[in-house]
Amino acid sequence: MPDTVTDTHGRRLRDLRISVTDRCNFRCVYCMPKEIFGRDFAFMDRDELLSFEEITRLARISVAHGVEKIRLTGGEPLLRKGLEELVGSLAALRTPDGRKIDIALTTNGSALAVRAQALGDAGLDRVTVSLDSLDEATFQAMNDVKFPVAKVLGGIDAAHAAGLGPIKINMVVKRGQNDQDIVAMARHFKGSPYILRFIEFMDVGTSNGWKMDEVVPSAEVISRITAELPLEAIAPNYDGETSARWRYLDGSGEIGVISSVTQSFCRSCSRARVSTDGKLFTCLFATEGHDLRALMRAGCSDEALTEVMGTIWRERTDRYSDLRSSKTRELRTTGKKKIEMSYIGG
Ligand code: GTP
Ligand code: 5AD
Ligand code: SF4
Ligand code: SF4
Repeated sequence: MPDTVTDTHGRRLRDLRISVTDRCNFRCVYCMPKEIFGRDFAFMDRDELLSFEEITRLARISVAHGVEKIRLTGGEPLLRKGLEELVGSLAALRTPDGRKIDIALTTNGSALAVRAQALGDAGLDRVTVSLDSLDEATFQAMNDVKFPVAKVLGGIDAAHAAGLGPIKINMVVKRGQNDQDIVAMARHFKGSPYILRFIEFMDVGTSNGWKMDEVVPSAEVISRITAELPLEAIAPNYDGETSARWRYLDGSGEIGVISSVTQSFCRSCSRARVSTDGKLFTCLFATEGHDLRALMRAGCSDEALTEVMGTIWRERTDRYSDLRSSKTRELRTTGKKKIEMSYIGG
């Protein structure tokens, strides 16, 4: 029986999300707005990043605590040189009862056409690709670096050809920016091998100028689609899934909605995050992390590190999305700042 840890709300540690770089070649308006992440922005130096050995060590210890799924994120994870090597080390990990770990990658897709095959060969199981619109002007306004839609679509197809599935497509919906494209996106991916998911614009970090008015509630997304392409709700794949699943009544596949703002899913949240510089965060909206890099670089043993990580999870109380209003007030009074998504990993 694996040595699974549970937190103060009885939630297991099952899912580890690792940010391998804080850099990105996009400047999505809801994540790394140009005004903040401009030419002068100080990204991390190389020696600040966890090495692949350090990442693999933390992953191995997390797996001993019950982790079954590892997701590589960023920034844009494919900007980290030699990522295939890390994928290979993670793919070799096994749960205490001998099962392979599910290794996934969240990417903007810009480098997939070139890298998909090598990532698959290294042991990557699946990718999730962000794509906010099929309309060229809208997409380019959102990525803010003039990146073309066709190149992302080409990357998705390359990932499919490399067997990196099931592939999910994430669309962050921002009212007034791309919400007019909801039905067109649904129509485009309906009947394809890809699962499109609509994400409510979230108040992560402090730089994306989040306003409730710009959130399109998932209920509205579903009603807009179902008016043209009828849908019905279906059961989640697993308890604690971020996405609520819906399928087309005509049998041509499914979509998902991720409703962190209007229907929080903290109750069953089994996700821990490791930032680019090796801090362990127990919530996407945390203000502080636990510095595991310092412990590792000071010569901490595997036993001690295992104990530290177990204790952090056992003491975990996080429920930010459930408590959004009071947490927002608390942040205002304490002056504490939430961590940026590009650093903590989506
Ligand atoms: P699957 O393994 O395919 O179920 O992936 P996932 O949904 O866990 O990961 P993905 O990277 O595709 O995340 C989708 C969206 O959900 C992103 O915008 C994430 O930031 C958001 N998300 C993921 N985990 C959490 C979480 O624990 N809390 C909140 N509030 N949002 C999350
Ligand atoms: N709100 C919702 N989703 C976001 N992402 C990045 N920033 C935000 C935000 N503020 C998404 C990305 C990616 C996923 C990991 O997180 O588009 O698909
Ligand atoms: Fe880069 Fe992804 Fe953030 Fe866009 S959402 S800026 S692609 S890390
Ligand atoms: Fe988990 Fe925090 Fe997201 Fe709630 S807000 S689901 S606790 S990461």
